Amino acid sequence: MKSLNMVVTSTDELEAAATVSSDYDRKSELKAFDDSKAGVQGLIENGITKVPRMFYCVQSPNDLSDVVGLTSSADSNSKLSIPTVDLTGIHDGDHVLRDEVVGRVRHACEKWGIFQVTNHGIPTHVLDEMIQGTCRFHQQDAKVRKEYYTRDFSRKVAYFSNPFLYNEPSAIWSDTLSCVCAPHPPKAEELPPVCREVVIEYSKEVMALASDLLELLSEALGINRFHLKEMGCAEGMSLLCHYYPPCPEPELTLGTFKHSDSSFMTILLQHQIGGLQVLHDNQWIDVPPMKGVLIVNIGALLQLVSNDKFIGVEHRVLANHIGPRISVACSFRSRTPEGMSKVIGPIKELVSEESPPIYKETSIKEFLTHRTANSIEASSLQPFKL
Ligand code: OGA
Ligand code: NI
Repeated sequence: MKSLNMVVTSTDELEAAATVSSDYDRKSELKAFDDSKAGVQGLIENGITKVPRMFYCVQSPNDLSDVVGLTSSADSNSKLSIPTVDLTGIHDGDHVLRDEVVGRVRHACEKWGIFQVTNHGIPTHVLDEMIQGTCRFHQQDAKVRKEYYTRDFSRKVAYFSNPFLYNEPSAIWSDTLSCVCAPHPPKAEELPPVCREVVIEYSKEVMALASDLLELLSEALGINRFHLKEMGCAEGMSLLCHYYPPCPEPELTLGTFKHSDSSFMTILLQHQIGGLQVLHDNQWIDVPPMKGVLIVNIGALLQLVSNDKFIGVEHRVLANHIGPRISVACSFRSRTPEGMSKVIGPIKELVSEESPPIYKETSIKEFLTHRTANSIEASSLQPFKL
């Protein structure tokens, strides 16, 4: 029986998927897809009933071992779930309560690299409207969507599918509208009308939450409460409105490859349909959506500056027969040329004789160059190890 939690389940399927026959012109398929400017949703609108070959998620021995290996939650009987941190009262000046919250954040970041937050202060109606706005954007007439489609990721507002389309061995089953909201937000009229208001409102709310979280994360690291903020960890924010259309053959592809985020921190809102999994102790653990809850995950950059005190968690999204699945990821890191050229490395207060630096100094720019060159799947911190 096929399980939704496995990507490819039998050797036959693997062989079928891996065979590259001479009549298959991958480049043309990619180009036609890109030229359509309508994303995966465009394929659904055209009534496809099979996953096109360019999406088959079988590329390298690494992937094969991952795909058929024991890292699926389907094999693990695991009832584990990511930690939850209730943020009630963090502004009340109650030191005992705050220390408890900081302790929970520390445990979550050291052991998991991800946690969910409740009572985070963003009203439920704003969360709901952000999901609705994302849905409206991706479901509006393809002619209107196309106007925003680009591979120029320096644009403040960009609609795209598969950011690494031509570099990855396989495409993924999702589309994204990205809006760079900080430090210099786009003009209101540059934002798509169907989600303009909520993008502005949600980004304000999420920036305030990020500020609270960075203080808690600094305290959890045992450094000055404002340290991470002063480093510029939340100076830049990109809001990624993801759309995962229903997939006719979810076992053949993925919604998003296994990766760790190229941010200090990501705040994720996911709606109704599950599919997000995190790699924890070599097992894929499901992160089921819960109403009103936000997910905080530590990115690779915070792992680097925390000198491995915190984990930049690896995660992926499975494709699903049911859909669309919608999520909104807010990714925090510098985005200005100055911020991106600044030297970053393990925070001085976190290194000592007993705990020497694990990573060399680098910059966000250099970090991103490495990552793009090696595709999103590469273990992004390896080249920066001392
Ligand atoms: C991301 C990401 C997960 C999701 O944007 O980096 O991992 O649930 N998103 O969409
Ligand atoms: Ni991610």
